[in-house]
Amino acid sequence: MQLAHRRILLGVSGGIAAYKSCELVRRLRDLGAEVRVVMTEGATHFVSPTTFQALSGESVRVSLWDEQAEMAMGHIELARWAERIIIAPASADLMARLAHGFANDLLTTLCLASPAPLYVAPAMNQQMWAHPAVQENVDILRRRGVHLLGPASGDQACGDIGSGRMLEPLELREALVASFGSAVLHGLKVVVSAGPTYEDIDPVRFIGNRSSGRMGFAVAEAAAQAGAEVTLVAGPVGLATPPGVVRRVDVRTAADMHAAVLAAAAKADIYVGAAAVGDYRPSVVASHKLKKHDGAGLILELAENPDILTSLSAQTVHPFLVGFAAETHDVASYAQDKLQRKGLDMIAANQVGDGLGFEAADNALHLYWAGGSVELPRASKTVLAHQLVAQVAQRYKAVRQ
Ligand code: PMT
Repeated sequence: MQLAHRRILLGVSGGIAAYKSCELVRRLRDLGAEVRVVMTEGATHFVSPTTFQALSGESVRVSLWDEQAEMAMGHIELARWAERIIIAPASADLMARLAHGFANDLLTTLCLASPAPLYVAPAMNQQMWAHPAVQENVDILRRRGVHLLGPASGDQACGDIGSGRMLEPLELREALVASFGSAVLHGLKVVVSAGPTYEDIDPVRFIGNRSSGRMGFAVAEAAAQAGAEVTLVAGPVGLATPPGVVRRVDVRTAADMHAAVLAAAAKADIYVGAAAVGDYRPSVVASHKLKKHDGAGLILELAENPDILTSLSAQTVHPFLVGFAAETHDVASYAQDKLQRKGLDMIAANQVGDGLGFEAADNALHLYWAGGSVELPRASKTVLAHQLVAQVAQRYKAVRQ
């Protein structure tokens, strides 16, 4: 069993998604995990501690002021006991308190007192999730190495549609299983590219694209968790470096990314190109802001950028190459064509649009390699990244070891 005797502390904060955490306890125990539950006072308005007690087979703690439990410094004992802490659902209030180091209830105190890696599964109304205050707290938590799981987007309990849904229990379980690392990439050097490139037109304008970097950053984090030494080459994105990534190189243009990837890939075993690299750049970058001339159109002449994957596959010795293909239609045929044309070992095809691919929290991938393929259905980018890394490790071992 993948989680046999793993000690997982589940924190439940006040949100309607708390009912899904009951299922999470069951699914974790199915894989042999020992689960203890700590609830905030708010969470008890949604689900009773008795429910979690019955499902976990352990007493549930809510208050920091439980005299019986605290006779033996129960909160410190719990903090030391946990190998992983997962907070699901994590409300906006809970994340604000975590971000600012509050210890005003048992759950936040435990998070400060425990060395265990912390996993947070946000769940809230989409407007709340998008609020700058919440996003700033998310950034603080990410910078501190907290692992954010989701949120997903879709229908919400309040009737809204958007980003803020808690991931499903099985997705959360998968992330925890992966966090214990099967070390499938142990000893390997992996380079991941992520995000867009910006091609300058003049000092104030550029040609870019809608890549947020989330897919590539999730792949970098998953590869690090699988034991790889990861270098992340990032286009202009506003994301914190994922935990475990040893080197990050920030670039702006496709030419910069080409140079940075080729330099890092010289010593790498695997390259994953999740970046949306601009295919073209303006032939000339104007040194002054271009002026508008009323009534007259503007024609920009574009020059082709070098293709990073093609440059790598042309080298006699090169890393195992994984490309992505972002397509709006005929995904399978375009992806398979790129697999061959760019000389790749594997390609991850994604249909973009309809809330998937660019910018979104979710994605769906179809992986192709010579003589095989596997479909990874719609899930959060975090979960997909772990599945992709597992497949890459398997193929790498089949052809390179
Ligand atoms: O960043 P997110 O918002 O999370 O969105 C994720 C994503 C949709 C950007 C990602 O999943 C994805 O599909 N990335 C590849 C996007 C892309 O540029 O696809 P493409 O079909 O144009 O390129 C094919 C492959 O060639 C890619 O691996 C790309 O990195 C690579 N390429 C492209 C051009 C170039 N000059 N050099 C390259 O190496």
